[in-house]
Amino acid sequence: MGPGPSDIHPRVLASLSRPIIGHLDPAFITMMDEVKTLLQYAFQTKNALTLPVSAPGSAGMEACFVNLVEPGDKVIVCQNGVFGGRMKENVERCGGVAIMVMDDWGKPVDPDKVEEALKANPDAVALAFVQAETSTGANSDVKILCELARRYDCLSIVDAVTSLGGTELRVDDWGVDAVYSGTQKCLSCIPGLSPVSFSEKASQRIGNRKTKVQSWFLDMSLVMGYWGGSAKRAYHHTAPINPLYSLHEALVMLKEEGLENAWARHQLNHRALAAGLTAMGLEFLVTQEHRLPQLNAVTIPAGVDDAAVRSALLRDYNLEIGAGLGEYAGKIWRIGLMGYSSRKQNVLQSLAALEAVISSQGGTLDAGAAVSAALAVYGN
Ligand SMILES: Cc1ncc(COP(=O)(O)O)c(C=O)c1O
Repeated sequence: MGPGPSDIHPRVLASLSRPIIGHLDPAFITMMDEVKTLLQYAFQTKNALTLPVSAPGSAGMEACFVNLVEPGDKVIVCQNGVFGGRMKENVERCGGVAIMVMDDWGKPVDPDKVEEALKANPDAVALAFVQAETSTGANSDVKILCELARRYDCLSIVDAVTSLGGTELRVDDWGVDAVYSGTQKCLSCIPGLSPVSFSEKASQRIGNRKTKVQSWFLDMSLVMGYWGGSAKRAYHHTAPINPLYSLHEALVMLKEEGLENAWARHQLNHRALAAGLTAMGLEFLVTQEHRLPQLNAVTIPAGVDDAAVRSALLRDYNLEIGAGLGEYAGKIWRIGLMGYSSRKQNVLQSLAALEAVISSQGGTLDAGAAVSAALAVYGN
């Protein structure tokens, strides 16, 4: 129950052990087409350029930047935690200029500041931001930010690594131009794949580039020779066959559950966990309206030893929770409720374990209050 990877569903794990077939086997190609259609469902898009990059979320991030940013391009990058900083790195490594819009850690991206930056930089080609900031648990408003990007004639690049499958995301309705995610969070799949999707406008920009994409492996015009819809597919790289079986299974399960039901499940379990944590006297870093259900960041009570609590949870309860990053190292815990990890049993067990461990560390708690508060949310 850390910030990812989340637990993998047994069906997804089992799919990994299916016999391997070739990456151009007709049955595999049929499965690739299904993965694309299922990803379009998960992203809520009709974008033809939708596929899983054969590498983790960081590669999806890089795929968006290397394909859309050329030397000299200005990109407005929002940073309200760890991952916006990586976007800046990406822009600069593409030879672009990153115009930073900074917000405090724990706050969502501020649309007013973004608009100011867009007004001040009419030549910017893209606006980039993280929807679900995993370092703090803050959720930024994709719809409003993408609307702003469109109004100022910019493409939008959205990090949905922690949001896909766990929090509302509607790529077409909200006008997202490029989006990347990861498989190890709310999709309950293994780490190592990065679903991406590019709008028609973004695809056109890739087609009209003046310079070659600096990464051969991530050049979408080459990758599409293998992942594209044409009958004549060509070898680009050896696809991670078994990991793709597992992504297929995870996406079939998401479709079976229903995307909106999955979002609602993440919300319900978050509400129960939050009620329990609050009853225990813990405080959230992010205000309720901007809080992600799948990443619960709470302040460590005074006098309680961060590392001692986390190692006792792991040793005595086989439970992992995440530490704080950057300026919040040693100050917060990050409790993940992602994908298959987002279930009632985990909420109740983690509250009981946390309560026992904090008490044994000398923290004063109203014993039993946390589990009762969570059960009340479930209606028991
Ligand atoms: C918001 C966000 N972006 C990007 C990444 C990078 O993904 P990966 O670790 O799969 O490369 C992560 C990973 O946790 C993330 O949380």
